[in-house]
Amino acid sequence: MKKILDLIGKELKTAFEAAGYDTSYAKAVLSNRPDLCEYQCNGAMAAAKAYHKKPIDIAQDVVAKAADSPVFSEITAVMPGFINMKLDGQWLASYMNGMASAEKLGLEEPEKKETVIVDYGGANVAKPLHVGHLRAAIIGESVKRMGRFLGHHVIGDVHLGDWGLQMGLIIEELRDRQPELPYFDEGFQGEYPSEPPFTISELEDIYPCASAKSKVDEAFRERAQTATLKLQNGYAPYRAIWNHIMNVSLADLKKNYANLNVHFDLWKGESDAQPYIPGLIQDLIDKGLAYESQGALVVDIAEETDTKELPPCIVRKSDGAALYATSDLATIVEREQDFKPDKYIYVVDKRQELHFTQVFRVAKKAGIVDKDRDMIFLGFGTMNGKDGKPFKTREGGVMRLETLIREIDDAVFDRIMENRTVSEEEARETAKIVGLSALKYGDLSNQASKDYVFDIDRFISFEGNTGPYILYTIVRIKSILAKYGDLGADAQILPAVTEAEKALQLEIAKYNEVLETSYAETAPHKICQYIYDLSNACNRFYHDTKILAEENEEQKKSWLALIRLAKDVLETCIDLLGFEAPERM
Ligand code: ARG
Repeated sequence: MKKILDLIGKELKTAFEAAGYDTSYAKAVLSNRPDLCEYQCNGAMAAAKAYHKKPIDIAQDVVAKAADSPVFSEITAVMPGFINMKLDGQWLASYMNGMASAEKLGLEEPEKKETVIVDYGGANVAKPLHVGHLRAAIIGESVKRMGRFLGHHVIGDVHLGDWGLQMGLIIEELRDRQPELPYFDEGFQGEYPSEPPFTISELEDIYPCASAKSKVDEAFRERAQTATLKLQNGYAPYRAIWNHIMNVSLADLKKNYANLNVHFDLWKGESDAQPYIPGLIQDLIDKGLAYESQGALVVDIAEETDTKELPPCIVRKSDGAALYATSDLATIVEREQDFKPDKYIYVVDKRQELHFTQVFRVAKKAGIVDKDRDMIFLGFGTMNGKDGKPFKTREGGVMRLETLIREIDDAVFDRIMENRTVSEEEARETAKIVGLSALKYGDLSNQASKDYVFDIDRFISFEGNTGPYILYTIVRIKSILAKYGDLGADAQILPAVTEAEKALQLEIAKYNEVLETSYAETAPHKICQYIYDLSNACNRFYHDTKILAEENEEQKKSWLALIRLAKDVLETCIDLLGFEAPERM
């Protein structure tokens, strides 16, 4: 279905044209005076100059031509030259019915179906998932879902950090703990064991130990660096340990992400890009882009229009090692080969912005991707505690994601049990669903690039701009619908009779516009803002209207069909945010 703004715009165009004015002025926008009108057009003001006329005269000419339009119940010209509009009830109701019966609630297929890579998650293998990775997972998952729902071919890749120093640290710590393992016996000839030499909980202990040790023990650190290099050069025993680390850690990561309702299509990592590095470096040299500087190999990326000086991108260190940028460039080479995406979206901490500016520019300069390829860095801010500093545990340590989720679920569980209307078992289940909404909405409702304060009490509140409030609205509608029984799929929505009802219809009508904009701007917070407004409109309508007590059956069914449509829109939107509603709460 066409967006309501476009339909109104089209109607205005006809009127502008009939009145002898250029149709480029016929643009409808949402009213900024909802007390006066629902939509407005400011085109007469702009046209005044071109036609040497008073804006109000132009507005009046246009209004006269639109007087009989079926789209408007009211269209008026007001000083100094605004065109104010209210939508016709019948027309709006038929738009509602159109949405209710259309696929995807009337969202149109994109003009061009794009292949899109969303690089998000970015967990580091063998290190526990901590809150720092939370935002990448939540925002990325939402962006991926939005793009896919809009009709694009979207591929989500976790892009694991699986090739760094942590691997060498683990190898050396393992050597200190279990020197008898065959991986450390240089003369060993047989097959390496297929069973890993550690469990996930041992692995979770090994890394922090090794990391702490490397900070005080210089020799240990050097050993770890050497082991990392050996692994990267393909040394078989370390490669075998690496495989164990990957298997054990991945199983755990998958479980954790699944608990967040975050699902990746690709579980690739930095290691997968390694085979592409030699060719990439050679190509950069052959094209005359990479040159030596103090032993390292670098590529200039500065552009004339830069407002601050950007350092060259280092693609090889003086000791020959590849870097983070090299690995991201090689990953682009790989992705070009596998998918040739129209668009790349990286959802990563905004402190990595310079890194991505460097990577994108090198990729374009070297022709790995063409100059106008859409490379988006969606940098997110920090999740802070109430003290305004990065969120920590009470003891001041890094909070593990599992712990955080458990705390939220417990808090929601306590709230549900206060009312004591459901069994403990059901409350536990519900708390998980509601807790996830609290966590995700609390995050997504902020513009991604901004820091925000993680405030558990506010996030789990059933009132205000929160996930649980949205769920509560949905659950309430479900319960009214359930009380009525079978409404039938074709129940018709009638023209609104009350102001709150019309307001709800107008809010519902924004749906496709909001979805398209939110995706185009990679801005899930716009969906949050929309469903908050929509929930408020639902609750106002519900408060105003005795739906089930209505005697006119036709009217009652129309109202039920309207709230059902509102619920469908809400449920579609929360699915795009990556959470769902329970049956009761
Ligand atoms: N593993 C990285 C980190 O923890 C994030 C990876 C982001 N994605 C990328 N393509 N560099 O900082």
